[in-house]
Amino acid sequence: MLTAYDATIARLLERAGVDVLLVGDSVATAVLGYDTTLPVTLEVMIHHTAAVVRGTERALVIADMPFLTYQVSPSEAVRNAGRLLKDAGAAAVKVEGGRSVIEVAHRLVDVGIPVMGHLGVMPQSVNQQSGYRQRGAETQEADLMLSDALALRDAGAFAIVLEAIPADLAARITAELDIPTVGIGAGPSCDGQVLVSSDLLGLHDKIPPFAKRYANLSETIVSAARAFVEDVRAVSSARARTD
Ligand code: KIV
Repeated sequence: MLTAYDATIARLLERAGVDVLLVGDSVATAVLGYDTTLPVTLEVMIHHTAAVVRGTERALVIADMPFLTYQVSPSEAVRNAGRLLKDAGAAAVKVEGGRSVIEVAHRLVDVGIPVMGHLGVMPQSVNQQSGYRQRGAETQEADLMLSDALALRDAGAFAIVLEAIPADLAARITAELDIPTVGIGAGPSCDGQVLVSSDLLGLHDKIPPFAKRYANLSETIVSAARAFVEDVRAVSSARARTD
């Protein structure tokens, strides 16, 4: 699974054989210049999800539900998730949290909306979790995370993202569940892996310590734009000399 936020990148990632495209609310930090995912609205997610769906023929497209579009009440969550499916064409939604979202997950699944869970570091809780440092290293927190994962499974979630947790805890949760786990900074034992595509592609100077950069597109883009600027300036000065 990789994140995608527009049709062009979605088309390329699908061509590479990626099975699942996540329209993450990481669009906030990866594309829109925000410091956190909190400002993302439902309208923004619909806009980007619809673009990814237009660029996709085969991959499963999952849309993140933004902060406060599912926490207020299950009926509001159904209405908002419904828009990500009906207006944008997503096949499923992802929600962050354990116990606090079980009722919501139940209700969404009940009305036919597939739900992916998300445990560990939950960027929408950045203020409560005091940043993005690893979760679940202590026994009590690890046990709570396992029970949250089982509760999400029981609520009907079809898969769970595990973000920035110890590899042995991810292995334990994966072994206990009969639905797939998808890890990011959670070691090799998860059933699948996810990366934020701008980290994979090297579009930003800073990436999380667990992310792997597979390309350096920022350098490619800067060199291409610089070459264009130099060409245009060379032509303008040649023209100025002949005038
Ligand atoms: O928003 C996002 O990109 C995510 C991934 C890190 C899993 O939730």
